[in-house]
Amino acid sequence: MSDTILRFDGVSRDFSSQKGFFGGKRTMRAVDSLTLDVPRGKVTGVVGESGCGKSTLARLALHLLKPTAGHVCFEGNDLAGLTPAALRRQRRHMQMVFQDPYSSINPRFTIRDAVMEPFQVHGVRHTRAEAKDKAARFLEMAGLDPQLAERYPQQLSGGQKQRVGIARALALEPDLIVLDEPTASLDVSIQAQIIALLADLKTRLGLTYLFISHDLGLVRYFCDRIVVMYLGAAVEILPSTDAPHRHPYTRTLMDSAFLPDPERRKTVTAMTGEIPSAFERPPGCAFAPRCSLASSRCYAEKPVLLTTERHPVACHHPLD
Ligand SMILES: Nc1ncnc2c1ncn2[C@@H]1O[C@H](COP(=O)(O)OP(=O)(O)O)[C@@H](O)[C@H]1O
Ligand code: SF4
Ligand SMILES: [Mg+2]
Repeated sequence: MSDTILRFDGVSRDFSSQKGFFGGKRTMRAVDSLTLDVPRGKVTGVVGESGCGKSTLARLALHLLKPTAGHVCFEGNDLAGLTPAALRRQRRHMQMVFQDPYSSINPRFTIRDAVMEPFQVHGVRHTRAEAKDKAARFLEMAGLDPQLAERYPQQLSGGQKQRVGIARALALEPDLIVLDEPTASLDVSIQAQIIALLADLKTRLGLTYLFISHDLGLVRYFCDRIVVMYLGAAVEILPSTDAPHRHPYTRTLMDSAFLPDPERRKTVTAMTGEIPSAFERPPGCAFAPRCSLASSRCYAEKPVLLTTERHPVACHHPLD
């Protein structure tokens, strides 16, 4: 078995929109030439500001979105090359937990129906008694009282709902779980409980996580390695949470995350300068207008993610 469970190989994803009533279509690149290995059994964190392409990356990982260019390979198989039946089989091994797990669930479903839905989607049939037992088991694994199975989503707290989302993700016994801001809408104390649950499940079940968040403190605490995204591109891949920050964006981002003032910390606004529009990308480095180290080369030539003698960083003048 390869150490890499999921691989992005030069993956880009474009979205088109109408420019205006008479205008033509214009295209923006939400994910830009991303190459990334997700190692088995580890937590790979993805951080970056809102709109930088994190959720698009999550959906590409599970082939809920098709790449415009490049390949997403799960266990060595290019997901775009699979037949629908083979893709469905692969999908059992890869699941997703959303920020709001109930946005995609029928509010008239009981909790048991919600937990058992992945089986239905995959054509796995159960008797009533089997469904009851299985749902109870997965609810318990997610730290919930199995009695909640008879309830409806609106009767649950935010933290309980997210636990149901996790129980659903566990139902098909996946190897990889993509977590897209799973605690972003929860109170800090509940957040900590969910993270503790995820850490415990990972150890017990040998899971691999792709953990997407804009909360840098959380990512530093929970992840083994960190991918820093800026305007759709990975600009630095930190091999460990204590690795030095070599990209000027990573340094600014991480510094701002640990400011004493919680309001400033939350909003990551320590940077000045504009984020370029993803519709009109500048030729050089997308971070140049905000970077104190920008040179004329930075405005002319796009830096690529290079593995130098240290870890991968996309910058012409990386920090020491
Ligand atoms: N289905 C879509 N159609 C058009 N644009 C989209 C779509 N999904 C995402 N985008 C755009 O792609 C960019 C990245 O979005 P997203 O991946 O949701 O970022 P993040 O999760 O980091 O906030 C944003 O500019 C967003 O508006
Ligand atoms: S390439 Fe230049 S502008 Fe971009 S981050 Fe590095 S130093 Fe700054
Ligand atoms: Mg998102």
